[in-house]
Amino acid sequence: IERTLSIIKPDATKRNLTGKINAKFEEAGLRIVAQKRIQLTMEQAGKFYEVHKERPFYGELCEFMASEPVVVQVLEGEGAIAKNREVMGATNPAEADEGTIRKEYALSVGENSVHGSDAPETAAEEISFFFSGLEIVG
Ligand code: GTP
Ligand code: MG
Repeated sequence: IERTLSIIKPDATKRNLTGKINAKFEEAGLRIVAQKRIQLTMEQAGKFYEVHKERPFYGELCEFMASEPVVVQVLEGEGAIAKNREVMGATNPAEADEGTIRKEYALSVGENSVHGSDAPETAAEEISFFFSGLEIVG
């Protein structure tokens, strides 16, 4: 059984969409096995998104992620990484499929409501960035 790291981003927590987004995950068969609401510092956001530090939008992305609380969570299920990315939809909401979270809720390519790990190695790293083993209850 696979696990992935999900983040409900500031644009979504601000608009009170946590429950609606969680419903999408649960309807897709993903189980929320850990979850907490936190406010990232600029430093933490910068570290989390370090892989993007050469991209032109890095500063904007970090400021956005630290601007309001986020909900970080571990989702579990068969093929959880791919399934989560399917439920999220394309990064740019204009390209996201009907019924996906980003199609329904994202505001722009930057303020796109959710993050999901993209591979097993990054999922493991991202989960341990936010959670200790004791906080994950499968
Ligand atoms: P994540 O699940 O958040 O990693 O999204 P992704 O894998 O679909 O996209 P990617 O890893 O390429 O980019 C990470 C995040 O950077 C995106 O989710 C966006 O929030 C942000 N981002 C990507 N491209 C742009 C852009 O052109 N402008 C801005 N402002 N933000 C961007
Ligand atoms: Mg990514």
